[in-house]
Amino acid sequence: MRAAVLRQWGDATQLSIAEIPIPVPGPGEVRVNIHYAALNPVDYKMRNGRFRWFMNRSFPKILGVEAAGIVSECGPNVSSLRPGDAVYIYTAARFRLGCYAEYNVVKATEAVVLPPNFDLKTGASLSVAPVTALQVLRDVASVGTGTQVLINGASGAVGLCAVQWAKMRGAHVTAVCSARNADLVRQFGADTVIDYQQRDFTRENARFDLIFDCVSTLSFRACRRVLAPDGQYINLMLRPLDLLYQRWHNLFSKQKFHTVLMKFRPDDIKTTIEAVQNGQLHIPLDTVFLPEDIQQAHLYQESGRSTGKNLLDFTQ
Ligand SMILES: NC(=O)c1ccc[n+]([C@@H]2O[C@H](COP(=O)([O-])OP(=O)(O)OC[C@H]3O[C@@H](n4cnc5c(N)ncnc54)[C@H](OP(=O)(O)O)[C@@H]3O)[C@@H](O)[C@H]2O)c1
Repeated sequence: MRAAVLRQWGDATQLSIAEIPIPVPGPGEVRVNIHYAALNPVDYKMRNGRFRWFMNRSFPKILGVEAAGIVSECGPNVSSLRPGDAVYIYTAARFRLGCYAEYNVVKATEAVVLPPNFDLKTGASLSVAPVTALQVLRDVASVGTGTQVLINGASGAVGLCAVQWAKMRGAHVTAVCSARNADLVRQFGADTVIDYQQRDFTRENARFDLIFDCVSTLSFRACRRVLAPDGQYINLMLRPLDLLYQRWHNLFSKQKFHTVLMKFRPDDIKTTIEAVQNGQLHIPLDTVFLPEDIQQAHLYQESGRSTGKNLLDFTQ
């Protein structure tokens, strides 16, 4: 089968296409014929070795944490899935990865069955962007009617999903992005747009109940002045010192600082699927790359200029 393999930690030139054996599912596992694999910022962070101390040291590796495809074979003891089922798969646990390939073997519990005729391009990106945004807005920040929400990085994959979930929950949404993406974030529902290259909202007078820093380019310290007295600043970047500071600070202040790491929850994926099906959520798609263009795809994802999900198309 074709796979985009990583030969060594490093830049995008370490990625190339190779022919490797088709994997065989063991007990409790299924083999999925991948149609579309999603690229995520975490992929290039893994590629350049940021997580090397937690990852298996063998090479070549196949990156990719989420994808959509069709179950082609079930191993022993699998009753929840059948060959022919269209599924979304999420393989970040223990860095199992492997989604940049024509086939991946996953635990049956890492797959969620998609409804009939569900678009597999949309189906490839059902956790990392939309579920992260959902868990932040619903579970951590309890966003509801009238909540004043500011979303920094609103034009990215997480940001555009966050704009939509926040509007669904009745919030007033201020989107921070560059001028070239202002129309896009308005189309996705933002009420107010701030161009971060022209204005520094942390020095202005508006106050927010939630500042969701999707791209983690701000700091809690800079945002505190424009948070409501019981407001929250949430980012997505795991920095050990921040975690220590948050524990201490959150004990003594009504203004809270949280770092959120997405949890794989099939129920949240089902909520996302329902929102897509009833037209409330559109998972933004930027570019579909051929597997052969894996280096170009990684360079683009890493540029930080995407306005939605980037995919690898294994149907070609
Ligand atoms: N903790 C978790 O569980 C978790 C889950 C998902 C994602 N993440 C992380 O969240 C981050 C965002 O993910 P993503 O998929 O949304 O990324 P993305 O789609 O690559 O984000 C790109 C967007 O960010 C905008 N941007 C870049 N610099 C900006 C700045 N200084 N201010 C405002 N906007 C800026 C860009 O707009 P312009 O071109 O206009 O600047 C672009 O539209 C990544 O670091 C990812 O690893 C963490």
